[in-house]
Amino acid sequence: MPAFKELVFSGVQPTGNLHLGNYLGAIKRFVAMQAQFECLYCVVDLHAITVWQDPGELTRQIREVTAAFLAAGIDPARSVVFNQSQVPQHAELAWIFNCVARLGWLNRMTQFKEKAGKDRENASVGLYDYPVLMAADILAYRATHVPVGEDQKQHLELTRDIAQKFNNDFAGTIAEQGHGEAFFPLTEPLIGGPAARVMSLRDGTKKMSKSDPSDYSRINLTDDSDAIAQKVRKAKTDAEPLPSETAGLEKRPEADNLVGIFAALNDASREDVLREYGGAQFSAFKGALVDLAVAKLGPIGAEMKRLVADPGHIDAVLADGAARAEAIAAPNVAAVKDIVGFVRRR
Ligand code: TYM
Repeated sequence: MPAFKELVFSGVQPTGNLHLGNYLGAIKRFVAMQAQFECLYCVVDLHAITVWQDPGELTRQIREVTAAFLAAGIDPARSVVFNQSQVPQHAELAWIFNCVARLGWLNRMTQFKEKAGKDRENASVGLYDYPVLMAADILAYRATHVPVGEDQKQHLELTRDIAQKFNNDFAGTIAEQGHGEAFFPLTEPLIGGPAARVMSLRDGTKKMSKSDPSDYSRINLTDDSDAIAQKVRKAKTDAEPLPSETAGLEKRPEADNLVGIFAALNDASREDVLREYGGAQFSAFKGALVDLAVAKLGPIGAEMKRLVADPGHIDAVLADGAARAEAIAAPNVAAVKDIVGFVRRR
């Protein structure tokens, strides 16, 4: 595999409230990556409409996710911040990838099965095709690294399968047209840290999710300190005090989750947290967690509110990002069309 320029890409859907899982599993890590990599962060509005979105609400949510990126510390002068629908190469490359990806591969996607539920016949074709568009998002930039939460692992494996099959199917023209052995990198998923899978506060065996009917299951980035305190205090736990070693968290999903959240918020590990709180009762630990969560999330929520009050500024950030994103994606997708054998407009 030839060396590809290191580039980070990731995306967040503008659907429903952003929560602590989105922040700790993804957005907080996006911020950290900026020091080391050139990064593109995308509000994936084309993905959002795979399930029904009220148009006015969608517009609001696109701006809100952008505000969350900025409020969390993504610097739009350094990283490219944009929304997917402003860069036509995503949809265009997705079509070509539709003809590379195999039905059998998509039939294995567990997230489609979960999201479509029992009423599969009534799911949109877009929902089924969702992971192919994800591959196009990443590969339009030939991105080498993608920070995501654990729930996206299977989709990133599919992205690698699509890249590999394209590189193999078109190996002849890829070499002839001067791209060497492979046109697309095999992108590395970056899944990690103590909060790669943040669980519901009501049930430690279920993922924290935007679609959980109970708002007590998640902490939203826009929750005020009272709401954060109430949700943490009501969070499900067991009757034992915290263990001193991580082995003691096994089979205690709620304890494990709260310790993982504390660790991620504090840039520490579970071991560090248990060194300090091993033997503590949940009442004391929850008090410390409330203080930490309010200290870390409060300023982000406040900055989001300030930013969404000025949609003109957000839209200008998105327009600038889209132009910079397109400058990278357009030559890549033009080269893909040449590789496939289409005739260019001259
Ligand atoms: P979305 O909007 O559902 O989630 C955004 C990010 O948040 C992570 N995440 C979590 N991490 C830890 N614990 C949780 N409970 C939790 N819930 C969500 C997700 O893993 C994700 O990183 N399909 C993507 C959006 C996307 C994308 C892409 C990502 C579209 N194109 C290209 C990377 C590259 C998604 O599910 O977003």
